[in-house]
Amino acid sequence: MSSPATLGVLAGERPMPTWARTQVLVNRPLTDRYRLLRFRSATIAARAEAGQFVMLSPATESGPVLPRPMAIYTRDAGSGSVDIVYGVVGSGTKALAALEPGATVVVTGPLGRGFVVHEETGHVLLIGRGVGICAMTTVAQDLAGTGVRVSAVLSGRHESAIIGAEVFRGCHGDVRLATDADETSGVAVLRERLHRGFDGDPPQQILTSGSARLTRMSGELAARWHATVQVSIEAHMACGLGYCHGCAAGDGDGTHEAPLVCRDGPVFRLRG
Ligand SMILES: Cc1cc2nc3c(=O)[nH]c(=O)nc-3n(C[C@H](O)[C@H](O)[C@H](O)COP(=O)(O)OP(=O)(O)OC[C@H]3O[C@@H](n4cnc5c(N)ncnc54)[C@H](O)[C@@H]3O)c2cc1C
Ligand code: FES
Repeated sequence: MSSPATLGVLAGERPMPTWARTQVLVNRPLTDRYRLLRFRSATIAARAEAGQFVMLSPATESGPVLPRPMAIYTRDAGSGSVDIVYGVVGSGTKALAALEPGATVVVTGPLGRGFVVHEETGHVLLIGRGVGICAMTTVAQDLAGTGVRVSAVLSGRHESAIIGAEVFRGCHGDVRLATDADETSGVAVLRERLHRGFDGDPPQQILTSGSARLTRMSGELAARWHATVQVSIEAHMACGLGYCHGCAAGDGDGTHEAPLVCRDGPVFRLRG
């Protein structure tokens, strides 16, 4: 995570979140590490801004499960459905993985501040790793057909573990993979590759998620290209709504609390 002193809160109105018991439509493996869960929510599908998240809580027989934050991977206002992609790491995501189509899931959202692509931006570079990529796929959805060039650098352990490539390609994004397996994901190698790839037509904005190393690299690239950076960060969350103050992005400055990831983020402006 970036230090709080480097994080700026993005301005702007957000859509009003809703709370609803909704129906699971699909819940299946997507890769060997990740699963895709689709639920019905016409309101979230229509309102969610790129980079926002939901709090999801399976209604199990043994009682309620604390809600877990999940990025909105894709949303389809036409069918009123929302997809999330998740890894099973503990009890909450195990409970999610056990849900059959037709089961009920309690969803609050859309939540948080998402990515802001400025009107004057003609080229956006998205740099993501692992499950962090899920926070950025909706940016490509929103920019498809707008004339803004979208380049995506997707990093992961190996090619089949990388999620999101088909979404970016489906939205006419230019996708480059970087993997630990072929040693193309190390910062030095990747930085060199990005200099070669983009020095001639650099992006005005870099959006990043999923890796502190890649966030630092994004800052360096932005200085070279006179671009700005926005970063989506994760934190443990209990309420997701700004009440419990459990998700501060660091220790604050001794006088003021650090920004709350659920209320002020999860997307922040990276200060130079
Ligand atoms: C805004 C936001 C968006 C997210 N989007 C996604 C997503 O799209 N897909 C996805 O798979 N996950 C996402 N996460 C992370 C996801 O919420 C956690 O993996 C989940 O809450 C874990 O719950 P659990 O009960 O299964 O595991 P727990 O039992 O709570 O934790 C299992 C292990 O994971 C660690 N852990 C749990 N939550 C986090 C976290 N937020 N950051 C770092 N380590 C953590 C715990 O310390 C523990 O070691 C997101 C988190 C945030 C804050
Ligand atoms: S999770 Fe409760 S304030 Fe952010």
